[in-house]
Amino acid sequence: QARTLVDTYGRVATDLRVSLTDRCNLRCTYCMPAEGLDWLPKPELLTADEIVRLIRIAVTRLGVREVRFTGGEPLLRRDLLDVIGRVAALQPRPQISLTTNGIGLPRLARPLREAGLDRVNVSLDTLVPERFRKLALRDRLADVVAGLAAADAAGLRPVKVNAVLMRGVNDDEAPELLRWCLERGYQLRFIEQMPLDAQHRWSRDAMVTAAEILDSLSAAFDLTPEDEGIRGSAPAETWLVDGGPARVGVIASVTRPFCGSCDRTRLTADGQIRNCLFAREESDLRTPLRGGATDEELAERWRAAMWTKKAGAGIDDLGFLQPSRPMSAIGG
Ligand code: GTP
Ligand code: 5AD
Ligand code: SF4
Repeated sequence: QARTLVDTYGRVATDLRVSLTDRCNLRCTYCMPAEGLDWLPKPELLTADEIVRLIRIAVTRLGVREVRFTGGEPLLRRDLLDVIGRVAALQPRPQISLTTNGIGLPRLARPLREAGLDRVNVSLDTLVPERFRKLALRDRLADVVAGLAAADAAGLRPVKVNAVLMRGVNDDEAPELLRWCLERGYQLRFIEQMPLDAQHRWSRDAMVTAAEILDSLSAAFDLTPEDEGIRGSAPAETWLVDGGPARVGVIASVTRPFCGSCDRTRLTADGQIRNCLFAREESDLRTPLRGGATDEELAERWRAAMWTKKAGAGIDDLGFLQPSRPMSAIGG
């Protein structure tokens, strides 16, 4: 019987996000500088064996039911298929998903599916090649588009698409992105940009809000709120498009935070537990893990780590400080 990851507000974390690497093969300007970052040194990264052991502990002793792999770009991990295969063999078997920029999917979608991956979320902020190149500093739009098709063909469904809109860059593209995703059966979610960029350039005024996104969509589509009062712990609020069944989501982390129903816990690529995306402190599991701790000792540390989880992200609080790790080293 699992003793769960409960915090002092009574929230229970059943959703584990595992960052597999802090590296990425794109340089989205809202995330990383052109030159990249100081990557974590290899010896500090958890090995596949270590990752699988911690996930096994989470699933068998802590009540975690969903595991999402993130990065950086998780498809850059060479042992990804091995990790997913071993996680899929755990009892009880967790739901397994992955958040990716999609570039590696033409090659990996099918083997990932065969290894046991259930579904993918793919980032796509623009359909204009020239904009993609400016936004991600690499000319890879065609690979992402092919990656989405490959994921769909491999049955990694529902295929979800994440779009971050930036003022003056791609904020006119919401209707076109939605039309494009609807045609292909992908579930599109727009995301409010959060203060997690490595360059610390985020400003609330530059952020495109959920209200603005809904306004621009409403000019082209008929939207009906789908989930009033039944949002649960899902970050996205959803609307039926033109009467449904198609839908569109908005993840309004800044203007409508969902912290009250948060069900997440995070493991970084270097073996630190983060109880919140915006946590200012982490709990080191790697040291005890490598120092011979038992499964139950590691589980107990993980439970203790959740006990200090704050009520919320606090983006609008006076004196808000960004976490010292950027998004790419936390895993979103
Ligand atoms: P689904 O299970 O498919 O809904 O996944 P997801 O939306 O939780 O995951 P994904 O990795 O696709 O993240 C989409 C956006 O939600 C990203 O911008 C994440 O940073 C953001 N996000 C994920 N988890 C949290 C969270 O706990 N808090 C906040 N504020 N944002 C989050
Ligand atoms: N705020 C919100 N979303 C972000 N993403 C990356 N950086 C930010 C940010 N600062 C998105 C990516 C990806 C998902 C994991 O998070 O576009 O889709
Ligand atoms: Fe949970 Fe922190 Fe995200 Fe809020 S910001 S939903 S508390 S992880």
